[in-house]
Amino acid sequence: MPTLPTSFRRLLVPALAACALACAPTEEATDSSTDPEPPSVERATTDVHSFATPDEVSVRHLDLTLAVDFETRRLEGRASLDVTRHGEAAQDAATLVLDTRDLDIQAVTFGSENGVEDGAETEATWSLGEPVEFLGRALTIELPAGAERVHVDYASSPDAAALLWLEPSQTAGGEHPFLFTQSQAILARTWVPIQDTPGVRFTYDATVTVPDGLIALMSAENPTTASDDGVHTFRMPQPIPSYLLALAVGDLEFRDLGGSVGVYAEPPVIDDAAYEFGETPDMMTAVEALYGPYRWGRYDILVLPAGFPFGGMENPRLTFVTPTILAGDRSLVSLVAHELAHSWSGNLVTNGTWNDFWLNEGFTVYLERRIMEELEGRDYSEMLALLGLQDLEGSIADLDAADTHLYLHLEGRDPDDGMTDVAYEKGYFFLRMLEETVGRERFDAFLESWFESRAFESTWTDGFLAYLEQELIAGDQELAAKLQVDAWVDGPGLPSNAPTVTSARFDTVDAQLAAFAEGTGAAELTTEGWTTHEWLRFLRGLPDELSDEQMVDLDTAYGFTGTGNSEMLHAWMHHVIAHRYEPGYPALEEFLTGMGRRKFLQPLYTRMAEADDTRAMAVRIYREARPGYHSVSTNTIDAILRWDEAG
Ligand code: BES
Ligand code: ZN
Repeated sequence: MPTLPTSFRRLLVPALAACALACAPTEEATDSSTDPEPPSVERATTDVHSFATPDEVSVRHLDLTLAVDFETRRLEGRASLDVTRHGEAAQDAATLVLDTRDLDIQAVTFGSENGVEDGAETEATWSLGEPVEFLGRALTIELPAGAERVHVDYASSPDAAALLWLEPSQTAGGEHPFLFTQSQAILARTWVPIQDTPGVRFTYDATVTVPDGLIALMSAENPTTASDDGVHTFRMPQPIPSYLLALAVGDLEFRDLGGSVGVYAEPPVIDDAAYEFGETPDMMTAVEALYGPYRWGRYDILVLPAGFPFGGMENPRLTFVTPTILAGDRSLVSLVAHELAHSWSGNLVTNGTWNDFWLNEGFTVYLERRIMEELEGRDYSEMLALLGLQDLEGSIADLDAADTHLYLHLEGRDPDDGMTDVAYEKGYFFLRMLEETVGRERFDAFLESWFESRAFESTWTDGFLAYLEQELIAGDQELAAKLQVDAWVDGPGLPSNAPTVTSARFDTVDAQLAAFAEGTGAAELTTEGWTTHEWLRFLRGLPDELSDEQMVDLDTAYGFTGTGNSEMLHAWMHHVIAHRYEPGYPALEEFLTGMGRRKFLQPLYTRMAEADDTRAMAVRIYREARPGYHSVSTNTIDAILRWDEAG
């Protein structure tokens, strides 16, 4: 990694919090001599993962001009930033601090006149700070009194952590190279010099030049076909945080799905993608009915090459998704519901720091399940909830207790460490508990007004808790006691008032699991009408110990090794590894080399690393597959396989 292994130093946090209306001041201990319990939770609204000092000067608009060079694997160009100066900085000289990581900064200049560019530019006084692990380097720019627009000429590094450059052979089409970005959580700074904190929002315009025949797409208003001259222009008129900056370049086709919804994919994939996501307009109808109008114009989905490290990423106007959800039967589209839901929870109302990540993801899982309930019924969404609960229980067992609080303390750590089932599933169950306690009608109105009142703002845990207290609890002490808000937000595990989930459909599966454990042959089990989620329950519920005969019996009856459903294949591969089921090895290798989705890679490599024989296999496969994985995935797998020693 290009960042230097400096010992981690405490960040200089900005003196003042970028405090929106909603954020309550951090409470001070009143009298420590009479109060034996010091306040254990300090919820700063300052972002420990950014060098920026937005209380002094904040970016309000970005003009980005970039050329995409597949040969050198660089983006090169200019970021012009319009800034707003606050407090004393409004009149005097001031300092603009940007986040950068592995950027080659070539020049920092001011236009000859504030906001006007007539060609004459003056060089600014600027400096790059020492590299800090995960965070990169602060770019500090002195602004003379009155200056409100700064130009930064720069190039990204070929190893920029946000970017994955793919050879034609690593795409579905096999003929053209492909590039995509993944900026969340703090990787935008590896391709744009920016205040890389979710507490700052800005609008942007961009001009991106790409090789002939390729199309560029961004998290903005997009073209539907490649331009003749390789130049593509973009406009994002709604203010967004930096982690939602996104770019993809490749050979892509567009298909309209109706209702301002569409899909982009490589030509060999577009038909499957258009079928798979055909219900997205219905999802839009459902979510708008629940939480108010969609505020971003179009909603398009981009299916990326298989190296994409996530299931999905909610880049505004253009959700990025993995092709591994193209199951052929629309059975994995709750992921689209999830990314669409982020258009309210996350993109419209944004977690102010990564410690508040549950405000993005917990809310989004809640919305996702409400959408799926509308489309598929309660018994369907309850299966999703139960699978989520199972994941959460596993994570709670594995994580340090402090990492199972909703509000996180990630100072000095990679924000990626906070991306666990706790934010997603404990966050979900917290909101579901609120819903079940006050009733759906009241809770729906509450959530809708939350999104409406905080639209296009960043928000913090304390801000939400204050709103909850004011709008929902409203002085009702009995209700407050029932909710146990503190236990959820600042306590470990699942509090005692966690909702219970029941699923008759899963009870049926469990009965068949019991029968199988007692010796009924796989082909004799009653599995008629099972959908992907029943099968996932089944695969997860199989006993740890299975004989060779049982593995063969299962695979013969149900063809798990050959399934085209990535979630089921992933669940099956745990057994393939654990039981050294060799007929499954070629499919395992193909799975691990054929896609880069961390959610699948991480558990499988972890399991393989547990024993010498499978570890050797993992190292061999990883050596081949690693160039096709994004840094998000290689960071994780390098650690599992101790790649610095093994590689
Ligand atoms: N925003 C997340 C992905 C993310 C989180 C990227 C944190 C980087 C840092 C996205 O919305 C997400 O949650 N994706 C999930 C799918 C979802 C259905 C749970 C994923 O990719 O697995
Ligand atoms: Zn999400």
